[in-house]
Parts: sequence; structure tokens; C-alpha cells
Amino acid sequence: MNMMIPAVAAAQQERPRFTPEQIHRYERETTPIDDFAASGLILDLGGGGEGVIGQMKRSQVVAIDLSRKELEEAPGGPLLKIVMDATELRFLNSVFQTVTCFYTLMFVPLEKQLKVLEEARRVLAPGGRMLIWDVEVPPPPSPEKKVGIFYFTFQFPGQLPGGPAGREVRTGYGTLYGEAPRGAAHYQALARQAGFQLASSKTQGRSFFLELQRT
Ligand SMILES: C[S@@+](CC[C@H](N)C(=O)[O-])C[C@H]1O[C@@H](n2cnc3c(N)ncnc32)[C@H](O)[C@@H]1O
Repeated sequence: MNMMIPAVAAAQQERPRFTPEQIHRYERETTPIDDFAASGLILDLGGGGEGVIGQMKRSQVVAIDLSRKELEEAPGGPLLKIVMDATELRFLNSVFQTVTCFYTLMFVPLEKQLKVLEEARRVLAPGGRMLIWDVEVPPPPSPEKKVGIFYFTFQFPGQLPGGPAGREVRTGYGTLYGEAPRGAAHYQALARQAGFQLASSKTQGRSFFLELQRT
């Protein structure tokens, strides 16, 4: 099982700053991930790590990630893996029909999240969609807790062509609690600011899914 934590937390792990008492581990959740319709190329933001979208949609996917290492470690499947910052996409305007963001925003510092959504909107063609899966990060359970780690078993629909082995991915994503709790309501507000309309939303345990329409 892999466990991913944000770069800042990873650096701190190499020279530990957080004691075990400062880390809160949430119970593992089983989270079904529905397949989704998409025509043309899919831009996957933060597509390293488990590379779940790349595993699901394979040659339709252009996966970008800030971390070369995370991209190198992600399973094969995507058409392209490119080291790129989601806050400064190198693509022209209106070139994708679908942008995905699978448990990536929880890794992006609060002050950069609006830029990620604005960039996603910029590269989407009119009528295109942004799909977000992420965690509802609650306030820390006690003041001494600085990092929360969320464990998931993602389950995939059986009919996916070339889907992940065993059709399950077991992982853990860690995040710094930061200054404010963040979740679906927070991202919906940012999405409106960036020029998206909410098309649908879903809550699954500690996770949520948002389907945003580019206006
Ligand atoms: C939870 S991890 C990987 C999630 C991944 N989508 C998966 O399927 O496992 C989030 C990823 O977002 C990447 N990331 C964080 N900030 C980013 C940014 N500004 N631009 C691109 N990638 C970023 C991290 O390097 C990390 O690989």
C-alpha cells in the first residue's frame, strides 16, 4: 500500500518535525469510483501517485504533476505524463473537453486553489467539464494534531477496459490541517468564482465528488 503526503509534509518526514502524536489517522474507507463519460483527451491534474484517472481512462489521459517522481511512479496507462504546475498550465485556451482532479486539491495550498480552478477553466472548451474527487478535511480533532491521513480502498466498476488489477486501489493521502477546514462547500464557492457552474455533486463518506460545467 502506498501512502502519499504533501511535499511539505514529506520533507518534514525526512527530517521529522511531526511526532506521532501530531498525526491523526482516519479509519480506512471503501470508496466506489464511478466510471464517467468523456470524449477526446482528459487533462488529469496531479496525476502522479496512484494515477487513478490514468488507470481508468488510459490513452485518453494527459497526466500532469508537479512532481517528476510521482509521475514516474504512477502506473502506465496515460498517453502522456508531463511535469507541470496546475497553477500555470502550458496548454492553449479551450483545448480539453474534460479536466479531472483526483484527490489533488487537498495537496494544493489554500491560496493557490483558485488559480488551479481558473487554469482548468481556461484550458476547457466551452461546455467542457471539470471533475473533482477530494476529501472533506475537517478541523483537527485536537489542537496538537497537525497532519491528517485518510486511508481509502477505491473500487472501480467491473467493466472498465484494462482497469486496475483486482479493480481496487488501496492508498492513503495525508494533508496538513492548515488554517481552515476545506471541503465540497469551499470548492463549490471557488468554482463559482472561477466561472464554473455546479452540474452535480455527491458525498461518499469523507469524500466528495463535484461535476463542474464551464460556462
Ligand atoms: C494525492 S496525490 C496523487 C493523487 C493522484 N491523482 C492519484 O490518483 O493517486 C496529489 C498529487 O498532486 C500533485 N500536486 C500538488 N500540487 C500540484 C500542482 N500545483 N500542480 C500539479 N500537481 C500538483 C502532487 O505532486 C501529488 O502527486
